[in-house]
Amino acid sequence: MSDLDKVLATIDADLDAALERLFATLRLKSISTDPAFAAETRACAEWHAADLAAIGFDASVRDTAGHPMVVGHHRAGDGPSVLFYGHYDVQPVDPIELWDNDPFAPKIVTRPDGTRMLVGRGTADDKGQLMTFVEACRAWKKVTGALPVPVTVLLEGEEESGGVNLPPFLDANLEELRADTALICDTNMWDAATPAITTSLRGLCGEEIIVRAADRDLHSGFYGSAAANPNHVLAKILADLHDADGRVTLAGFYDGVPELPAALRDSWAKLDFDADAFLGEVGLSVPAGETGRSVLEQTWSRPTAEVNGMGGGYQGAGFKTVIPAEAHAKVSFRLVFDQDPHKVRDAFRAHVRARIPADCTVEFHQHGSGTAVAFDTSGPVFQKTQGALTAEWGKDAAFVGGGGSIPVTTLIKQKLGVDVVMVGFGLADDRIHSPNEKYELTSFHKGIRSWARILAALAG
Ligand code: BES
Ligand code: MN
Repeated sequence: MSDLDKVLATIDADLDAALERLFATLRLKSISTDPAFAAETRACAEWHAADLAAIGFDASVRDTAGHPMVVGHHRAGDGPSVLFYGHYDVQPVDPIELWDNDPFAPKIVTRPDGTRMLVGRGTADDKGQLMTFVEACRAWKKVTGALPVPVTVLLEGEEESGGVNLPPFLDANLEELRADTALICDTNMWDAATPAITTSLRGLCGEEIIVRAADRDLHSGFYGSAAANPNHVLAKILADLHDADGRVTLAGFYDGVPELPAALRDSWAKLDFDADAFLGEVGLSVPAGETGRSVLEQTWSRPTAEVNGMGGGYQGAGFKTVIPAEAHAKVSFRLVFDQDPHKVRDAFRAHVRARIPADCTVEFHQHGSGTAVAFDTSGPVFQKTQGALTAEWGKDAAFVGGGGSIPVTTLIKQKLGVDVVMVGFGLADDRIHSPNEKYELTSFHKGIRSWARILAALAG
């Protein structure tokens, strides 16, 4: 029996213990965006540092101006080294009433067909995923007393809330984090049977705006039509972000957005994506993006403007005839190729200011920003990873694009100058960021086995 076979057998035998460890971190409410959970977020960092130390990592909780990072090192000869990144923070749970169970009391649910899923906040994004890598390391250590390659683990505590402390942390610890390849487990499989390596992610630019008019809420009969209404002003600003073809109207928005390179177009065409099923699964049927673009293009290689939140005026039960003093919106832009988040922010602010009438003012708040990232997959690490995934799943791993953002990926490429191999075992229906988030037990189990194989492949 080879070492790898022994490691895989150990992973199978120890699955229940791995689930218990996962559930221990899932119970900690590491909601990074809400200051009320700061202490529990730190407790979660401490849990992960202790867990890595138990495997034999030299691990510590590292303070930042926000939530701490966890860094652990494990040496192993002089083979090619890896930096593994995951995030231990989670999204808020609201609307809480839509959860079938306590989001922080994780449980295993068995479906009528016998398949099992892990349900709870963070099961898929990202604690369940990051623990697949950690458990693979644990199994290698248990069986051979060593890891196949030197590993540094970096766990962030504010990926879900802007991550403003990540760039300075990377800059301050560049030498310590240096590795030959970076690995991230925070993405999806192609489908439940087909593993995937995500080769690109979109960037992001987040903006919050508050439009104000009168110095108080007004009676809409007494003042109606004489007084500027911030809700109307804001609605117009937001409606004007897109033209009739679904294109974003900001000046210069498509600078740095080329047509999809032919090789990528061909490779995506071969994936045989079912757009009807993709939309159907969430109760939709008609792609709402740019006309003439496929759904894969719309979500992987085209930029967006999305209103993520908006409000103003009376939101309570019943009815209230009021002209509100202010209206607000949170808007994000997903960016592709070489779009510059700072230019997009400037163009958005110019778009807004040009539509602010007399007597109205606008206030801007800047949220996260990051550029898109893409990797050339012809390099050996991508091929080795693909081989390892194919061996585990019995199906060729697909090279896919990603519509979401994982800001660290761009930063690692820029600051450390290495490839980032993004392998994840999430599924499109995992409901990340939503009520009843889940992770398939198969994702967790075969995810651990996959990383065990990938570590071996990278060493070879
Ligand atoms: N894991 C996700 C991103 C993701 C999801 C990639 C599914 C591929 C498939 C990540 O944790 C996330 O949600 N990121 C945020 C980042 C933002 C807050 C800066 C996102 O994409 O909205
Ligand atoms: Mn997320």
